[in-house]
Amino acid sequence: MKKVLVLTGGGDCPGLNAVIRGIVKRAHKEEDWEVYGSIEAYNGVLREPQEIVHLDNKSIAGIHVKGGTILKTTTKGGPFSWPVQKEDGTWDTVDRSDEMLEKLKDMGFDAVISIGGDGSQRISQLLFEKGLPIVGVPKTIDNDLSATDYTFGFQTAVQEASDAVDKLVTTAESHHRVMIMEVMGRSAGWIALHAAIAAGAEVCLIPEIPYDIMKIKERLDNRYKQGRGFANVVIAEGAMPKDGSITAKMSDEIGYENLRLGGVAYQLSAQLKAAGCDVDIREMVLGHLQRGGSPVAFDRVLATQYGVKAFEMVLNGDFGQMVAFKNNQITQVSLIEATKSYNYVDVDSYLIKTARGVGISFGD
Ligand code: F6P
Repeated sequence: MKKVLVLTGGGDCPGLNAVIRGIVKRAHKEEDWEVYGSIEAYNGVLREPQEIVHLDNKSIAGIHVKGGTILKTTTKGGPFSWPVQKEDGTWDTVDRSDEMLEKLKDMGFDAVISIGGDGSQRISQLLFEKGLPIVGVPKTIDNDLSATDYTFGFQTAVQEASDAVDKLVTTAESHHRVMIMEVMGRSAGWIALHAAIAAGAEVCLIPEIPYDIMKIKERLDNRYKQGRGFANVVIAEGAMPKDGSITAKMSDEIGYENLRLGGVAYQLSAQLKAAGCDVDIREMVLGHLQRGGSPVAFDRVLATQYGVKAFEMVLNGDFGQMVAFKNNQITQVSLIEATKSYNYVDVDSYLIKTARGVGISFGD
């Protein structure tokens, strides 16, 4: 029997289970393939005792509707930077990639499918360069991978964010308030932009268009010129003022190397007050609600296609490649291509023109 190992890495994302199910179901059609899962990305291989589970049709039945990942995940460490505690209590990292490749060989794996975002796919490329037959599947609610038009999980996050704005509109209107809602997305404004258009926000602030606080104040003043008004602002966590910087901090969690974004809604609120905005403002951070729960149908379909395609790439020996969705086609790109550039919102795109066309202000 041939063996493929599946793992999920980075932040969880609605649709991960649908990818796993797609891989297992497609593999089941081949008589000579077995699928295994590594718990918490590569940790399942590197930990003692190892945590590797057999995945068959029974273990994946019905999982496509569930959020999270049955294989668990991690945003810390990895085979190239495994956290180790030194004698003085401080932490360092060691490269365990060679040891891991040996372990995979000893266990008889013929291929690996890594489902993860840009960080995970960079690790995939490094492992591929060391000889591992690996296929990538793009995952993130942020939609910030440039080689694919959509990552699964994004549409679910947008739905969650739009539903939240719909609710905030009613409370904003009742209290004549400005509601500021912060959404995820890291350095890209995809979730904010889609939610602002879908729900009809007055202001949308994204990292790609640094804002001028006075322009936002003007837009809000306009909403209150009859005396009473209300307004909804959607702000991406990575948004920043002109000549300003992102609201982020380093994490104190061992092995967590990413900057932790969050809190820009409160910063904007304070800036508006300082600029003379005298209406009532409330802030909310939507946070991990955007990542939890069941994927919407679009994400289930996309994730299932990604899973089936990823296994077919294994069958064809298309290693060092990532599944992608481009121009309405499921296709594949090299991992190098996939991780080369970041997928920012194009400020000249029709999506931005549409938002401006319906009166949404970007504060520019
Ligand atoms: O990349 C996905 C994402 O949800 C970002 O939108 C957000 O900044 C980050 O992950 C949050 O990460 P964590 O779950 O580690 O706090």
